[in-house]
Amino acid sequence: MRQLFILVTVAFWLAVLGLAASHSWLPAEPEVALRPPTDPRKSLAAVARHDTAEDCWMAINGEVYDLSRYLPDHPSKPEVIVAWCGREATQAYLTKAKGRAHSARADRMLAEYRIATLQTP
Ligand code: HEM
Repeated sequence: MRQLFILVTVAFWLAVLGLAASHSWLPAEPEVALRPPTDPRKSLAAVARHDTAEDCWMAINGEVYDLSRYLPDHPSKPEVIVAWCGREATQAYLTKAKGRAHSARADRMLAEYRIATLQTP
């Protein structure tokens, strides 16, 4: 009986150690979820065709966003953000065009408007 107890205890701790060690063996999870093969891609030329307040696409950090619905809600004067419609706007987004980053809340809102990955030449 005592031997059985020792055997079960050893087996248990071996299992625990095995599980803990497997974390360092397994490949790390990719930080960004892999895009499905059907994920649309849009070029900067395509983005450039949507450069008005009513039809506003931007390329930010390698992704394409259709911000037409969001623009009326943006807290700045309209011209501050409309100037970036149809353009690569990563730096403008990262600095609010005056050196301050957008909040995490803004990042979450932005994600809702993603329509494609930016196609690189
Ligand atoms: C890319 C061009 C953009 C520029 C130049 C820009 C600029 C600015 C500026 C100047 C402010 C401060 C407004 C004020 O307090 O008067 C602001 C705030 C804000 N912007 Fe933008 N913005 C841009 C794009 C966006 C986008 C694409 C989103 C989200 C979809 C966004 C979401 C917000 C939010 C939520 C705030 C409130 C403060 C915060 O949460 O950081 N902006 N932006």
